[in-house]
Amino acid sequence: MGVNNVKLTENYRFNTRVIHEGQKPEEWEGATLPPIYQSASHVHATAENLSRTFAGKTKDHIYMRLTNPTNRVLEEKISSLEGGMGAVTMSSGMAAVTNACMALLRSGDEFVTGNSLFMSTYLLFANIFKKYGITARFVESSDMDALKNAINDKTRFIYLETIGNPKMDVPDLGIAGKIAHEHGLPLLVDNTLASPYLCRPIEQGADVVIHSTTKYLSGHGAATGGMVIDSGKFPWNGDRFPDFKPFIDRKGDLAYMDKVWREHHINFGTTQAPFHSYLTMIGIDTLALRMERHLENTSKVAQFLKARPEVKWINYAGLEDHPSHNTATRLFNRKGYGAMISFGLKDQEECFRFINSLRLIYHLANLGDCKSLVIHPFSSQYISFDKEKKAALSITPDMIRLSVGIEAYEDIREDLEQALDRLNE
Ligand SMILES: Cc1ncc(COP(=O)(O)O)c(C=O)c1O
Repeated sequence: MGVNNVKLTENYRFNTRVIHEGQKPEEWEGATLPPIYQSASHVHATAENLSRTFAGKTKDHIYMRLTNPTNRVLEEKISSLEGGMGAVTMSSGMAAVTNACMALLRSGDEFVTGNSLFMSTYLLFANIFKKYGITARFVESSDMDALKNAINDKTRFIYLETIGNPKMDVPDLGIAGKIAHEHGLPLLVDNTLASPYLCRPIEQGADVVIHSTTKYLSGHGAATGGMVIDSGKFPWNGDRFPDFKPFIDRKGDLAYMDKVWREHHINFGTTQAPFHSYLTMIGIDTLALRMERHLENTSKVAQFLKARPEVKWINYAGLEDHPSHNTATRLFNRKGYGAMISFGLKDQEECFRFINSLRLIYHLANLGDCKSLVIHPFSSQYISFDKEKKAALSITPDMIRLSVGIEAYEDIREDLEQALDRLNE
């Protein structure tokens, strides 16, 4: 568990902090990146010290499944960039989603969630949690009245994604945070699609931030990873959280982070490989620069697609007629609207012909890479979903999902153009 008590660069701007936050070359023999501590366990000089460390009285490391020095650098860095107080890195974004929620849930509990969710998160909430007697109440992500009305005595948290996929809708995190806090509940936000460059949910009112670091934070598609970040501000001593007492006693403001780490991360074995943390850190160095290009390219691609007759509809909050346009403009401080677009062609057959004609853009199941990526979700990631579930999640046969990369815009446009032209042959 990384506790963010080092803010070496707090006086610098975000684009500088993204590179320099957490840097300690003086502790790394002058190296500009931390060593990869590829060791399953750590030697302790005395029995007394190991005992004290097990009791949580030192910051020393014991065993990789618990903590690791390389991982800790990444935890402190991302925690600070998100304005958090502590963080735990995990083996994947889904490990982070699972642990962040499980730490709050007991059999019989409920939570309220937007319905615009990453596919595996949806399956976890709708199917897996259900097996353990936990109910996810799904509401339209941007409908704050529905969110409020779904809260009851059994609710333990509210869950949203900053940019929902594939509708690319942007819920008002400020209002959601207010509703949550009025009911004594924490707001959990998956900030993967925005990244801390575009949005820092804790500043808007969130209490917990979740990331798949596999996406924009890494940017190179070379490592999977996840992160749970605790704002350290939520009062866990409220009526709804009697099970938090031992964690409050042990860690005070970081009670939630301690619960995530001690109860779930350690015992579920969702360990992050230090090499993946190292690769993620290399990626983060260029986050701000990459995001600038991602956002600029995406805005141009959306305008290009809008003008093409083959494109029947577009989901991208940067377009003025998108229902989330005003909220996203405010929330993202006019920096951009994310780098994901979903759009409709005539039907599935046209989608397949379009994808098969692309020359530059990769056809694969990922997003947030520096390379442009495309997929037909209906026939791939969602293939096992029944008709009703696909419709409820707005996964239609005519939909293409595009993750816009940082290549030269003209090359992305020309590739899209020639693939769209082929539909008319
Ligand atoms: C919003 C969001 N959250 C979580 C995940 C899961 O991340 P991972 O693939 O690293 O487990 C994804 C993956 O695409 C995602 O898009």
